[in-house]
Amino acid sequence: MTHWRGCNLQLIRELSVFCSRICESDRDSRRDTCPAAVARVGSAVMNPYDLALPLIRWLEPERAHRLTVRALSLGLGPIQRTADDPALATRVFGLDFPNPLGMAAGFDKNAEAWRATLRMGFGFVEIGSVTPRPQAGNPRPRLFRLTDDEAVINRMGFNNDGMEAVAANLAGPRRGIVGVNIGKNKETADPVTDYVACARRLGPLADYMVVNVSSPNTPGLRALQDPARLAEIVDAVSDALAQACPDGAPPLLVKIAPDLTPRDCEDIARLALEGPVAGLIISNTTIERPESLKSPSRGESGGLSGKPLFEPSTRLLSLMYGLTAGKLPLIGVGGISSGRDAYEKIRAGASLFQIYTGFVYQGAVLINRIKGELTALLREDGIDKVESAVGADHP
Ligand SMILES: Cc1cc2nc3c(=O)[nH]c(=O)nc-3n(C[C@H](O)[C@H](O)[C@H](O)COP(=O)(O)O)c2cc1C
Repeated sequence: MTHWRGCNLQLIRELSVFCSRICESDRDSRRDTCPAAVARVGSAVMNPYDLALPLIRWLEPERAHRLTVRALSLGLGPIQRTADDPALATRVFGLDFPNPLGMAAGFDKNAEAWRATLRMGFGFVEIGSVTPRPQAGNPRPRLFRLTDDEAVINRMGFNNDGMEAVAANLAGPRRGIVGVNIGKNKETADPVTDYVACARRLGPLADYMVVNVSSPNTPGLRALQDPARLAEIVDAVSDALAQACPDGAPPLLVKIAPDLTPRDCEDIARLALEGPVAGLIISNTTIERPESLKSPSRGESGGLSGKPLFEPSTRLLSLMYGLTAGKLPLIGVGGISSGRDAYEKIRAGASLFQIYTGFVYQGAVLINRIKGELTALLREDGIDKVESAVGADHP
């Protein structure tokens, strides 16, 4: 069960009702900024997060995101007060996760809200992508809701405050698992130096570390998925982590794109099995634009996430599980918006899974919904621990 801090409830309720009225009168003309969640306000099953959603959705997407992260960083978020079902607890990369649901990278780029995000009921949070130096990212607008498709297109371009600011935000006592996702600055000629700098600075503060070579919005980044270049980065980062963390380096993961060729996949699987890689995150956003997209913003450039990404990212997950013979833990991400979607990722080979766009559309209620539905699906199939379902769809 989630609770809302009482002092903010009245304010949120008033703002939400106000905005829901504006939105309802304006809904047809502004469908991409005012989704269907508005209709839930005023219903008998209102909860505080439902009330806040219309306000957030009515805002321009990047402002809405900024406001959400800010509110969470101030401690204004729902709090899960009940323990997770023991069936969801799982051990991966030597870490104990209370449940397999994580917040994906990009939501909290500067590690401002990870405490509140964990308190909402996520089993882990991945912050970043972080670059050595702060950078502004691409010009706005650079974030678009595709409401009719339950999707988002972004071309943020690694806007972040840089590794020093992020290190300060990660310092202090830790309860819960925080992964740190690292990238390179746009202007850096030698990417290895940037990944190594981030690993040295942030490795000691990370429960796991992710080399992101798959965002489509930094020129040349995805070319780093080329096996020779990726091997060079992974080896250098692994050495940097070993030096920076003498008491034990965090597991090193690589996040890949859904647009890889089958040949790329074979090479990356081999590299992952032979090298210091502890796991893969599958996948980042896609540069493909399925014919099925209906929303007016579908022609924007950038990476597409949300429902249309579910099928291609799950296909890639399944392929990589087969290519790595189930020996390497995989994190499934892309288009999850229900417990059934999460279950499908697990059965395809994911030991853990993450959400981002589903959270944009459904809000914090999605956290308990996914965990509850997943627990029920496991029970229906007579499975008592989520880890027993990993890769179940493979012969
Ligand atoms: C606005 C936005 C920003 C993102 N920024 C990052 C990022 O900085 N680093 C990264 O590895 N992935 C980033 N992602 C990709 C997500 O982590 C995730 O892989 C992708 O959105 C697919 O999951 P979803 O369909 O649940 O959103 C971003 C996604 C969105 C929507």
